[in-house]
Formats: sequence, structure tokens, C-alpha cells
Amino acid sequence: MKRTHTCGELTIKNLKQKVVLQGWVAKIRKLGTINFVDLRDRYGITQLVIKNELVANIKSEYVIEIEGLVIERKSKNKDLATGEIEIEVTNLQVINASKLTPFEIKDQITSSEETRLQHRYLDLRRPEMQQKLILRSQINHIIRSFFVENNFIEIETPIFGKSTPEGARDFLVPSRLNKNKFYALPQSPQLYKQLFMISGFDRYFQIVKCFRDEDLRIDRQPEFTQLDMEMSFADQEDVISIFEKLFQKLFKQVKNIDLKVPFRRMTWEQAIDLYGIDKPDLRFGLEIKTLNSIFEKTSIPLFKDIKNKSIRAICVNDLLNKKSLEALTEEAKQNGINILSFAKFDTKDWTGSIGSKLSTSEKEALLKLFAIKGNATILFVVDEFYKASQAMGAIRNKTANILNLVDANKFEFLWVVDFPLFEYSEEEKRFVAKHHPFTMPNSESIDTFDKDKQNAKANAYDIVLNGFEIGGGSQRITNPEIQERMFNTLELDKSTIETNFGWFMEAYKYGAPYHSGCALGLDRLYMLLTNSDNIREVIAFPKNSSGIDPMSNAPGEVTKAQLDEVNISINKK
Ligand code: AMO
Repeated sequence: MKRTHTCGELTIKNLKQKVVLQGWVAKIRKLGTINFVDLRDRYGITQLVIKNELVANIKSEYVIEIEGLVIERKSKNKDLATGEIEIEVTNLQVINASKLTPFEIKDQITSSEETRLQHRYLDLRRPEMQQKLILRSQINHIIRSFFVENNFIEIETPIFGKSTPEGARDFLVPSRLNKNKFYALPQSPQLYKQLFMISGFDRYFQIVKCFRDEDLRIDRQPEFTQLDMEMSFADQEDVISIFEKLFQKLFKQVKNIDLKVPFRRMTWEQAIDLYGIDKPDLRFGLEIKTLNSIFEKTSIPLFKDIKNKSIRAICVNDLLNKKSLEALTEEAKQNGINILSFAKFDTKDWTGSIGSKLSTSEKEALLKLFAIKGNATILFVVDEFYKASQAMGAIRNKTANILNLVDANKFEFLWVVDFPLFEYSEEEKRFVAKHHPFTMPNSESIDTFDKDKQNAKANAYDIVLNGFEIGGGSQRITNPEIQERMFNTLELDKSTIETNFGWFMEAYKYGAPYHSGCALGLDRLYMLLTNSDNIREVIAFPKNSSGIDPMSNAPGEVTKAQLDEVNISINKK
């Protein structure tokens, strides 16, 4: 290479050296007959001192090559690694010119995300975006070396396969060679990794792309990256322990944080009861309480004769203003709850939609239950337990947001265990697998899961960080009899089982070890580790919220000839 150094490298130790640098023109400042130019590459910025005649034909974002002498700066910049020196340029060559960029190449710009995505290659030139992708690479490196050190083998799995049962919609790829047939892109390598265990590879991992056709959110992309793993002769505790060690190593190296293990653990039922959702953010309290017993004899119409509904509530140590209450009411509505009631207590009087109607004993009970000492606002919803809990969970998060209760520098991990084995699908009018149909029932449900679907629990676990589900896994069914009972319970007929999973079930007839595994959503992890607002910020070329790449405009139309080859015609309705 022609360059002798990068733009982040030269210090006072290099004084008087002749150097060659190459990079982008970040800034030009004119001072009489000399010009100060910041030269940028991914390693940093070096200040150049250039005479008028040489600077004439350069502009921002030109790529240039300079030769020059390292000299000591008069006014030093302690914030910059190269801040004690500058380069007295003797020779300058333009490698390539640049048009005026649609936004400035610097941190904290205000351009719309759509513009940034349209010119993502320029957006990725900005130092903060470079740091994010560099950190992503470092994390992958740490993960890989951790698993290799622990005897895991990285094996790749097919992208063109058959539908996998993760519960989202598949992306389909038509097969030209096999007319009218389709491959499905993997929602995860789930089935393949289970087969590796039967092959005897006993410890598998892979950093792998997964594809799910679902509605996009701040933490969802149609293609995303998993750290996928599976272990033989291992159970939930073995998998949990491996992941805790991985997170300890990762957080030490990336954030210099010593994580305490074991992480907190909670059953799914406890999580719903205390926080309303199965991925609670534990950086703040605001635990949800059920108040039915307090209002057993109430005269408040909303809380009277509620039969099997639940009164669920949180208490905020503050008097919420009208604007906040309106925002929280809107949150309740978005979660299917029309009325968000509230009672305010200002250490003397009770006000609010419920406050004035509370009886003396109800007031006393509330003060005691929530240990209220100063100002407080209690928020109530009434509905069927699970629905009320979910809504309260969302209201709890929104409240923390409004009141700024979240410490962005805190990392609170949680394992949620004993998930339900099934969930009822209103669409299909039957119970479907909550994770996938190869998830082992837990020891208490093993005899009864086919009879009591509602209460059956799985040997499945999720890892939650700061309110995001960053991973999930389970013990797998390795006993063909239990697997058959599971398919029967899911009301899958013999031919569906045979066509979809026959090939897979056959493998379990040839000697399978028991095994467990887990997958981490790496994009979500990078998002949290970089304090990013959404997952797109840590993905080089993400899709926008409509699933479009604004830069290439994918997905696009294809020619008739291409469609004919795969025997597809477009129904233009
Ligand atoms: P699961 O479906 O829970 O488990 O996925 C594992 C993790 O992947 C992440 N994730 C996503 N990230 C971004 N965009 C998406 N659309 C998306 N969907 C999922 C989440 C999630 O926790 N095969 C099983 C794992 C196992 O049982 O071993 C699986 O894929 O962080």
C-alpha cells in the first residue's frame, strides 16, 4: 500500500517523519494563505496544513492522497488521538472527486432516516455508524472465539430449505428446476441443528441469517442475524450456564462491566403477574398488583360485579399531569382497553376518575399495598386477567418512559422460564405451539400436556435484556412417542406431519442424544449495546418499516421472462 499510516495513527512520536496519507476531506478551514484540512478515514482524523495553490481543487468528501511532514501543532486538541500533530503537505493528489453529499458526513445529523437509507454508503461513512458496525464485528469475533474455546463447532446450514416451524410467515423462493415448487428461506436453522445432534456433533454453533415475513417493528427486520447453538447430553441449566459465561465475557470486553451471575430468573407466570409481559424491563419497578380483594365490596361501578375479570394497577410516586394521563390512556386503547382509571393522592386528598369515589377502607388498603408515603398516582385497568396484564405491561413501560425512570447505562438481564407449551390461536381456533412443536413439556406437564393444553408448561426459556427478548431456546423432544403425542395434541393430521416433518421425524429413529439449545437475536443485542433507538441503526443495509430498501428499491418487479422460467404469472389486482 502507498499510504504509510492511517488517519488515526500519527502522534508526537512521529515528529519530522515524511508520511503518505489517503482519505476523505472532512473539513476545510481557510486562514490567510494556509488552509487546515481534516483528513478522515475509519481510524480517525488527521489535520493537514495545505498552501492555497494545493488546496484549490479539493472539496468536502474528495478522496485525496497527500505527502508531507509531521509537525507539532501550536494549538493542540486533546480530544483527538492525533491532536498534537499536523501534516505540512508538500504534495497533494486527488484520487476521486465527490458531488455535494445529501447530508453532512458527521455525527448527530438531523436528516430523515429515509434519506440516510437512500445513500446508506454515505451514512455508513459517518463515524458513529462506523463505530456501530465495528463493534458488531468485534462482538461476533468474541462470540466465535468463546464458542470455539468451549469446543463448539461452527457448521453452516442451507438457506434453501423447507418451511421451518418458528411460527412466522415464510419467504418463498420458486424453483426453476422443479416447476411449481418452492423453497422456504429458514426462519432459523432449528431442524438442521437438531439433526447435527443426531449426527454426533454434540456442540454446534453458527452466526446465521434468518428470514421471517412478519410486520416490522423497532426490534424486527425481515432478515436478521442469530447466534444459534445446540448442545447434546445437555439440559436447560447447561445452556443457561454457557450463555451467562458468554455474556460475562462479552460485557467485560465490550463495556468493561462485570456481570453478576446467575442472572435473575422468573417463571413466565411470575413475569405476567408482576410486569404484564414476558419480557419485562427490570431497570425500574412499578410492579403490577391485582386489586380484586380490595374492591370486593366496592360501590365504584367500574369495579363492581366484574365476575372473573381482574383489576390490575400500578402506582407511580408522582402526580401525573393531564398530558401524561392522556398519553397513557392512548397506550391503554392501543392495547384494547377503553378505560384507564386513575386515583391521585397528594398526601391529603384523593382526586382523579376513581379517587373521589374510594371508600375509607379502600383508601387505607391502597396506601398500605403500594406503601405510599408521598404524592402518588394509581392507574387501574379492568379486564380478563391476561388482557389487563398485557395492557398494564405496556402502560408500565410508557409510564417509565414519560417519567424518565430508565437508566440507559444499566443492563438488567432476566431468564424467563416455564413458558406455556401452547397458545390459543383465534385465527385457527385451536391451540398451536408457543415456541415450536419440538419443544419438550416440562416435568410437571409431561403426563398431562395433551389433556390440559391450557396449563401445560414447556421446558423453554427466554433471555431478556432491558425489556427486549434477546434470545430463546428449549429442551427438545427426542423421544418419538412424546413427539407423536405432541403432534396429536396440535391436531396435525398424519399426512401434514408426514409431508412437513416426516423426513425429520425419521432421523429420531436412529439413536438421538437428548439435547437443548438456544438462539440469540444478535441485531437486538448490538442495538442495546450501542444504545441505538432501533435495530436498523446496527444493520449495514436494513429495510425500512415497509420492508423496502430505499437505496436499491428492493423488492422490485421482474421481467416476464424471469417469471415464465419459474412458471409464475402475476395476478395484477
Ligand atoms: P426465536 O424465534 O425465539 O427462537 O428467535 C431467537 C431470537 O431471534 C431474535 N429474532 C429477531 N430479531 C430481529 N428480527 C426478527 N424478525 C426476529 N425474530 C426473532 C429474537 C429472538 O429471541 N430456533 C429458535 C431457537 C431455539 O429454540 O434454539 C428460535 O429461532 O431476539
